[in-house]
Amino acid sequence: MTAALEQHDWSARLARRAQALGGGEITAILALAGATDVITFSGGFPDPQTFPAEILAGIAAKLIGQDAAVALQYSATEGLAGVRDYVARRLEFREGAAPGPGELMITSGGIDGMELLAKSYLDPGDVVAVEAPTYLGAIMAFRGYEADVRGVAMDGDGMRVDLLGDLLAGGLRPKIVYTIPDFQNPTGLSMNAERRHELVRLARRYGFLILEDVAYRDLGFGSAPPPSLWSLAPDMVVQAGTFSKIFFPGVRLGWAAGPAEIISRLVVAKQNSDQCAGALGQRMLEEYGRAGHLDRQIVSSRALYARRAGLMTGALSAHMPDGTTWTRPQGGFYVWLTAPDAVDTVALSAAARARKVAYVPGRPFYPAEAGAAQIRLAYSRVADHLIDEGIRRIGEVLRTALEEK
Ligand SMILES: Cc1ncc(COP(=O)(O)O)c(C=O)c1O
Repeated sequence: MTAALEQHDWSARLARRAQALGGGEITAILALAGATDVITFSGGFPDPQTFPAEILAGIAAKLIGQDAAVALQYSATEGLAGVRDYVARRLEFREGAAPGPGELMITSGGIDGMELLAKSYLDPGDVVAVEAPTYLGAIMAFRGYEADVRGVAMDGDGMRVDLLGDLLAGGLRPKIVYTIPDFQNPTGLSMNAERRHELVRLARRYGFLILEDVAYRDLGFGSAPPPSLWSLAPDMVVQAGTFSKIFFPGVRLGWAAGPAEIISRLVVAKQNSDQCAGALGQRMLEEYGRAGHLDRQIVSSRALYARRAGLMTGALSAHMPDGTTWTRPQGGFYVWLTAPDAVDTVALSAAARARKVAYVPGRPFYPAEAGAAQIRLAYSRVADHLIDEGIRRIGEVLRTALEEK
């Protein structure tokens, strides 16, 4: 006799902190990753043509053949010493400042650093101020620990630090202010130098920690970006970096640099999550980087993404209905588009899919209700010859929606 299967309602048992999370957006983006018949502007994916497969095959074979005891073993939680040294030297070269002892750890990608910080420093109800809009993975990481996430509006020069100042003067007391100062996700915009200095001044005055996410800092198309917040105030800033966009995301590697006291807490937090970033990937990065390959890869990636950004803004000028505006990124992966008010870009995703084109609607990038007429367009992984056609289809979807109003 077969026992009747008991029906369990697992959703009723979901932890309270997980209930408010949603999270379907990122899952949906990742689910589209393999779609071949859709022109997809949705994920923040690097182009696979930047992946140095041949060189990496050689490095992997060498490491497995000659260094298996390290490369195939657990790593120290803070990362292998040689890899930390490589990343520290790289920071010194780029930022003009090197992390001191205990001020740097290797993470399993950029999101890991944010998750570890949230886990270690956020109690339920703690306020985290973020750019509005911002990277939705970060909103989820903070909400995962029941933070009260507040948005600060942006303009063409990044976060409106003056508005943050008003909120602080009015009594808001964030524990953390999270920012992506360079070629931001989702807008492609950067914070100017003056605001960086002002943000640091506010952090010192009001005693909050700045979490600086530099995911796209290396991928500028023109002159070097202004000094990083971490280089301006290493005592007030944790910098979370990732190798996903400049090396390859399959390796899941990043770094966190900040005050030793904080980094040591993140190391403790990592001990009871994934314990360490994979040693094989760490050693591959080190070998690849020390041989100068990473710097060369970054130079050619910048040229590729600059060309695609140009193709996309050109296509937008040709195909968007009147009243639509968009950002003109100087680096990174994204253009942020604002359609006329009447448009609801969540509702239109289905029409876009029917025309075999995909984007991410604006709403999930905001901590509060906003962004209904906006969309994020990633040009990073769309072949040059498909960009114009994909944008033409989105233009058609928007125009049809506006005509139906
Ligand atoms: C601003 C920003 N930070 C962090 C990440 C996550 O990086 P990783 O994939 O290395 O966790 C992303 C990925 O899209 C991002 O856009």
